[in-house]
Amino acid sequence: MAFKQDFLWGGATAANQYEGAYLTDGKGLNTSDVMTVGSATKSRSITWRNLKTGETGSNPAGWGGPTRVVPEGTVPADVAGYYYPSHEGTDFYHHYQEDIALMGEMGFKTFRLSMNWARIFPTGEEDQPNQAGLDFYDRVFDECKKYDIEPLVTLSHYETPLALAINYNGWASRKLIALFEKYATTVIKHYQGKVKYWLTFNEINCMEVAPFVARGVIDGTAQNKAQAAHNQLVASAKVVKAAHALDPAIQIGQMLAYGPLYAYTCDPEDQIKVMEGMQRTLFYSDVQTGGHYPAYQWKRYEREGIKLVDRPEDYDLLAQYPADFLSFSCYGSNVVTTHEETAKSDGNLGQGGIKNPYLETNAWGWATDPEVLRLALNTLADRYHKPLWIVENGIGWADEIAADGKVHDDYRIKYLQANIGSMERAVDLDGIDLMGYTMWGCIDLVSAGTGEMKKRYGFVYVDRDDAGQGTLKRMPKDSFYWYKKVIANNGADLSE
Ligand code: BG6
Repeated sequence: MAFKQDFLWGGATAANQYEGAYLTDGKGLNTSDVMTVGSATKSRSITWRNLKTGETGSNPAGWGGPTRVVPEGTVPADVAGYYYPSHEGTDFYHHYQEDIALMGEMGFKTFRLSMNWARIFPTGEEDQPNQAGLDFYDRVFDECKKYDIEPLVTLSHYETPLALAINYNGWASRKLIALFEKYATTVIKHYQGKVKYWLTFNEINCMEVAPFVARGVIDGTAQNKAQAAHNQLVASAKVVKAAHALDPAIQIGQMLAYGPLYAYTCDPEDQIKVMEGMQRTLFYSDVQTGGHYPAYQWKRYEREGIKLVDRPEDYDLLAQYPADFLSFSCYGSNVVTTHEETAKSDGNLGQGGIKNPYLETNAWGWATDPEVLRLALNTLADRYHKPLWIVENGIGWADEIAADGKVHDDYRIKYLQANIGSMERAVDLDGIDLMGYTMWGCIDLVSAGTGEMKKRYGFVYVDRDDAGQGTLKRMPKDSFYWYKKVIANNGADLSE
């Protein structure tokens, strides 16, 4: 059997896309709470207000969009008349018992969720945590325990308390290192004995393309992005240090957005483009998991005139307290070339590049690659020699309810058969040390990229549409029963 007996099968979610209850029980506003709905062809927007004149408006929040996300003199704000999908998500806040029961029914061993920073520290700067926020996650973890589901908790998944974005330009300020450390140590201590596995920052490398979404950086110049990355990397090391001092059994993982790049041609120039593209991603794991700034990054900063505000002890911390394991999201591969090609593709984080003629894509242009997980796992294992965990993988689809009232998502089963098969070969043929697999968006939730409900990933359908209408009723899809079987036989049989 390929997978170890204690392999952690499960699903993944994020508070800003799932939890809702955006101002309930003392929660503060997050960066995600000022982002409107978009679509496959229309970017989400960030709404803003001019505090002097009262003027309001919205700017596109597209991945890889403009450096400054709102006009000078304005701040991102919750403005009446716009629809913000994060405000209700798919209301995990009030459905957690039902949802965790469904996960239990599928046989989940683990459930990846994110904790909402502004639910615990509403502006990020309070001295004391919000007790009602702590109580909510206590109820969630107690519910998980009933089904022997091990939580895997992301401390920051595409949300930063909005006040920190406005007052400090988010993670571009070193001030956030201490504020995050306070938040992280508060919750790690509070949930000691209930939560063993933590992730610091979701897809830390997303800073490159979405500094506001990922890190609360309003003015995302190259200098500010580099500083924000440094601050998060130092914060991660501080959290590892503090968590281990509290309880050596606690493990803090890194979370990287990873998609192998393929060269479109065998032109050596294309291979260099692949190498440079991969450095943009792997820099983050070279530091957070590897413990050191790589030479290529210093050279890049030198060329671009970037100077970090750093301290000598930052580098000691990074070397001494790397992440305990490396987790990553992987939805497919991307193609690059130095040659003129017209057929473009999309992909996670807008990094799709060129269309791969060998692969099928979904309606959002994301390619399905049957070998991607084996490739990803081998590259990361060879480079870091640390345990790995696939914490996001899946396919977005505009599921429809059939005449018999059910969702027959055979396309999702096909995608997962290919991907889990590839993961199995990595374990079986290459001996990869893999901790677990959590399929993305296990219960339908809002899309991060487009804000749509239509782009669904779940094993469970949630009745809600792109205008925020629907009963929020849950209904298992065909893939629910398939995944239940896969978990029951520990991945030995992937057939339908
Ligand atoms: C990952 C994010 O990049 O991709 C998730 O961590 C996101 O938050 C997922 O939802 C899928 O992307 P999308 O845009 O289809 O929701």
